[in-house]
Amino acid sequence: MRHFISMFDWTPAELAELIALARRFKSGRATAEVERLAGRILTMVFFNPSLRTRTSFEAAMLRYGGHAITLSVGGDTWQLEHRDGLVMDGPAAEHVREAVPVLCRYGDLLAVRTFAGLKDAAEDAADPVIRAFGRFATQPVINMESAFEHPCQGLADWLTVEEKCGGVRGKRFVVTWAPQVKGLPMAVPNSAVLSLAAAGAHVTLAHPPGYELGPRVLEQARAWCRAGGAAFAVTDDQQAACRGADAVYVKSWGRPALYGKPDAQRESFAQHRDWMVTPGHLGPKTILMHCLPVRRNVVIADAALDDPRCVVVDQAENRMWVQAAVLSTLVGDAAGAARS
Ligand code: CP
Repeated sequence: MRHFISMFDWTPAELAELIALARRFKSGRATAEVERLAGRILTMVFFNPSLRTRTSFEAAMLRYGGHAITLSVGGDTWQLEHRDGLVMDGPAAEHVREAVPVLCRYGDLLAVRTFAGLKDAAEDAADPVIRAFGRFATQPVINMESAFEHPCQGLADWLTVEEKCGGVRGKRFVVTWAPQVKGLPMAVPNSAVLSLAAAGAHVTLAHPPGYELGPRVLEQARAWCRAGGAAFAVTDDQQAACRGADAVYVKSWGRPALYGKPDAQRESFAQHRDWMVTPGHLGPKTILMHCLPVRRNVVIADAALDDPRCVVVDQAENRMWVQAAVLSTLVGDAAGAARS
């Protein structure tokens, strides 16, 4: 049984197959794959809020005759513990060791959104909560954004570049850091960089010193770019990085050295206010991307978000099509495994 928890567990060729299937779903040509979702139940577990992820997964299931159940941990479920060997005398009344297999008895697929602790970069990189779900699940688990990755967003980003830039291989894809009002995880930039590297784009990552992504992501992205005959670069010169880009992808994330230090993190964001993206960062044909939600005039200026080169709504729509592809693929894999 296969999970979609991490892009590291899928090859670029397999990810490309998911994109090809997403295109077939979007154009109404995925007849056999559509049928796999009829009557299926997706259970979605949210440790954090969501607008797009929740709605796009539900919409994908409902469109193709399936059903989705949404649970908010600590809201309409018990709080869940994932660490082993604890005396559970705190706020969590239930352990994932019981909760996950129970949920798997009711549905066909389990999807989970967790969030980075933003206290310890190494712990976030280990993705302990979603990995615990994967360990105890008897159904495929889908990552709806974890501490370390947002692979469904990464697939939507790939599909969007492919559609808007007339292909993805050899296109110049720039991920630029932008300021924020509070520290945020690296899951989205991690997945954007990995996804477009797997797709064969030239990838440039621009951020101020101190905001480096983790070595595992950088090494994998560099290796995938190299294998695809593309370049991978990291720079602290945002303007130079954006010059000549086919796609500029904007995202804020926190500085690991300032995890747990909100005042110092705010001060660091203020020092880099000029990294906010404006129309001046875009060439005549550059597309502007962001995963949303976005803070206007902090991360990206109004004039850029309201510019026709901005594709954030198309990008959000593509979440639904790539997730339909992931859901159908995992159901097909699980059915194949059960038969063998
Ligand atoms: N991009 C994204 O995951 O949006 P939500 O947080 O609204 O789900």
